[in-house]
Amino acid sequence: MNNQNQQHCRSRGSGKKGYGPTSFWLQDPEAVFDHLTLREGMIFVDAGCGAGEYSLYAARLLGKRGHVIALDTVETSIEQLNTLARKEGKTNITGHVCDITAALPLKTNSVDVLMLSTVLHIKSVRDQAESMFSEFKRVLRPDGVLAVLECKKEEANFGPPLHSRLSADDVETLAAPCGFKRYSELNLKHTYLACFQPC
Ligand SMILES: C[S@@+](CC[C@H](N)C(=O)[O-])C[C@H]1O[C@@H](n2cnc3c(N)ncnc32)[C@H](O)[C@@H]1O
Repeated sequence: MNNQNQQHCRSRGSGKKGYGPTSFWLQDPEAVFDHLTLREGMIFVDAGCGAGEYSLYAARLLGKRGHVIALDTVETSIEQLNTLARKEGKTNITGHVCDITAALPLKTNSVDVLMLSTVLHIKSVRDQAESMFSEFKRVLRPDGVLAVLECKKEEANFGPPLHSRLSADDVETLAAPCGFKRYSELNLKHTYLACFQPC
């Protein structure tokens, strides 16, 4: 990671209300989205979206017929994302204030890709993993994808502390009992993207 990006990750993690640290620039976002193979018309959920970098990128790929649903508990993040989307004329992205560990305001079998990017390591989220993944399974289509991106479980001077980091195997241990099977793990220098399908 270059200095500029490292600085970005630190500054986004400064505790300013409405922002959590983003992993977006920890890797080439194109590699992430190439792996997810989003297509026009798909429904993409960005769970714990923060400022919405992944949401804004996905919105470009989904076209007018597709939709990005961005969820976060922090009201200011959602307000800012909705304002930015409007300003940029993106009508296919909607942010909602929502606790992703509770019931989701989404129809059963309606989501093509649900992304959880650098959120699962948060203790209050991880502690609710069982009910959260069960709810994710309800809203995902049977051929949908649960995509979990986390910082690698290794020492680093950015991102979450080592003790709260999860490996892809740790994520699978949490998701598998709720009916998810891992089918890929994309190795991305500082992060990884683990993809699961309902089974
Ligand atoms: C480290 S930031 C990651 C933001 C974004 N996913 C990214 O990678 O750019 C974690 C985000 O998860 C959100 N979050 C934490 N617990 C949540 C919950 N229970 N429901 C919804 N969002 C939550 C935080 O508000 C924060 O925006």
